[in-house]
Amino acid sequence: MGYSIIGSTFNKIKAETLYFVPLGENLEIWQMSVTNLSKKLRKLSMFSSIEFCLWDAQDDATNFQRNFSTGQVEIENGVIYHKTEYRERRDHFAYFACSEKLAGYDTQRDVFLGAYRSWNTPLAVERGRSFNSIAHGWAPIGSHHVKLNLKAGETRVVTFVLGYHENPKDKKFDPPDSQIINKRSVRPVIKKYLNPVTVQAAFDSLRSYWEKVLGLYQVQTPDKHTNRMVNIWNAYQCMATFNMSRSASFYESGIGRGLGFRDSNQDLLGFVQMVPERARERILDLASTQLETGGAYHQYQPLTKRGNNDIGGDFNDDPLWLIVGVAAYLKETGDWSILDASVPYDNKSGSEKPLYEHLERSLKYTLDRLGPHKLPLIGRADWNDCLNLNCFSDTPGQSFQTTTNKDGKVAESVFIAGMFVLAAHELADIAERRGLNTDANNYRQAADQMDKTVHTHGWDGEWFIRAYDDFGKKVGSKECEEGKIFIEPQGFCILAGIGLEDGLAQKALDSVNKILATKHGIMLQQPAYSKYYLNLGEISSYPPGYKENAGIFCHNNPWIIISEAMMGNGDRAFDYYLRINPSAREKIGTLHRCEPYVYAQMIAGKDAPTHGEAKNSWLTGTAAWNYFAITQFILGVRPTYKGLMVAPIIPAKWNGFSVSRIFQGVHYTISVKREGKGNTVRLIVDGRAIEGNIIPKPPSGITHVAVQALLS
Ligand code: BGC
Ligand code: NOJ
Repeated sequence: MGYSIIGSTFNKIKAETLYFVPLGENLEIWQMSVTNLSKKLRKLSMFSSIEFCLWDAQDDATNFQRNFSTGQVEIENGVIYHKTEYRERRDHFAYFACSEKLAGYDTQRDVFLGAYRSWNTPLAVERGRSFNSIAHGWAPIGSHHVKLNLKAGETRVVTFVLGYHENPKDKKFDPPDSQIINKRSVRPVIKKYLNPVTVQAAFDSLRSYWEKVLGLYQVQTPDKHTNRMVNIWNAYQCMATFNMSRSASFYESGIGRGLGFRDSNQDLLGFVQMVPERARERILDLASTQLETGGAYHQYQPLTKRGNNDIGGDFNDDPLWLIVGVAAYLKETGDWSILDASVPYDNKSGSEKPLYEHLERSLKYTLDRLGPHKLPLIGRADWNDCLNLNCFSDTPGQSFQTTTNKDGKVAESVFIAGMFVLAAHELADIAERRGLNTDANNYRQAADQMDKTVHTHGWDGEWFIRAYDDFGKKVGSKECEEGKIFIEPQGFCILAGIGLEDGLAQKALDSVNKILATKHGIMLQQPAYSKYYLNLGEISSYPPGYKENAGIFCHNNPWIIISEAMMGNGDRAFDYYLRINPSAREKIGTLHRCEPYVYAQMIAGKDAPTHGEAKNSWLTGTAAWNYFAITQFILGVRPTYKGLMVAPIIPAKWNGFSVSRIFQGVHYTISVKREGKGNTVRLIVDGRAIEGNIIPKPPSGITHVAVQALLS
């Protein structure tokens, strides 16, 4: 993990490049091995190439009148240094180095490519010789030319290092009164990583790092797709989403968004066990952007760690996600000290309060904003960013995320109501464990009250209603012409425990099964909106079947999977899980059209001409939620405040499975065996039967616990 190998064989020359970033470094290694598979001596020319960004991606792609005149490079001992703007306010530069003696180089894109050509036919490569061009403005690139004479059967390894380096502001130049980059501190780094021994060591430590991270949860089930996703790829995607949030990928330009408040809290559900220290830091960063009202900026910038309103604010579900994220962190780590950490509001010094108070304000934020039915006001939107009930935008190009034409005093969200109940119970659990029983009672009462309100105003007869719009009319109800049923309130109300006992939950799940489920996953709503609705906003801007307009939004399929598991429906839960599992979809790869190892945000719904085609892979909350659903609810190995719970809800035909899980420093090996058709569990811990389904924490010093779980 953490590396790519790209290779090919052509005319009996085999070439393979390993790309990776060594842990803790600001550089990327490209290690290329070339083998002569023919029987004669081959004389080869190898050209590297990289196009440098001028540090500001947005400006770089738009401000050509300036940028075509700023580019600068230096070449020293075969190392290409890209130093645009270093002469003035920047104290950083890039470098591109090669382990071999160079036959030439290029740093000017248009010279390297040649006139009227592009990257598929660079002139330098075609003619077999670099131009030794130096970029003065235009588009700086780095390209090395290496000549290799390979005997029959011979393999040569060539290493390239592409890096970023900073110098202290007062030591930028060498000599100090010159304009030449001071390379004293970068030279040793370059030397170190051009050495194949260091590269191998860095690669080995990357591998052992990932073995450790993935080793935290390993499973062997009868289903290879489950094993592949849980043991490797789903966990890996959780790391990627935690790191990148929704910023840089093929689908996300990397310049539009920072870290989402809602997104990053949810990402914790799949990440928190991997590197708890980073999860802790993320929680404190997020909470520091919270506003004194308890509200949240919708996103914050990872470099400044400041919230901003550029892509909107007042998404009324946002603050509640902090409670969900913190609860997940506490259950995994038992680090209760985080609740006492002193955290500012909106990063203003002097406003610091314990994190626990932030959570209280998150909950209060909902209660301070109830609408005509005493359901939570939706604000700009809730989890569904595109259900814009206060937007009323009729101007092309206007952002649905920032435009508001209504005062927001009417439109309410049943989804937020469900989420509130869930968050209030989470906070009550936390309060109880801190001995704050009055707080806990208050939260539970508020949850019960909201639960009642959902029963009264949020239930449509066969499923939970989605919302009330600005006219006080139902959204996601049988009374609607289109968009009669939505997935979100079904999932979140049940997750919150609403309607579990009186049959509402089961009815809602049956409706989901009947109306929303397709063989490619569960659609977000039905029937799709066939036209634009001014009172609903962006959701109806998408053609039917895509994205929030009745696409299969893979992110909230796990809410239904978990709900099914909560109702004890192992077969249905796992069936839904497999429908969107990318590995299981490999067999329909020509339709699915996304990587068979990574979740996509969306699979086109049944109204789309491309039903079954996936889009927006990698950076999606789907990663965390699916990981959470399969590991904690279907496989049922779940951290709780009292210890590790083992409560699998698996398909009837599975005879069992085994899990290896490291939890709070203890290694649990769990072997689950089916003895009957149901999912009632009996636990035998280190040879002794215990009461209930939670393994108590072992006495200190015990690092391994063997568990047998018998299902009947
Ligand atoms: C997308 C949503 C996304 C929102 C906020 C919309 O265009 O459809 O999925 O959450 O933008 O960035
Ligand atoms: C993607 C966004 O990142 C997420 O925050 C949102 O909940 C979903 N789209 C649904 O709109």
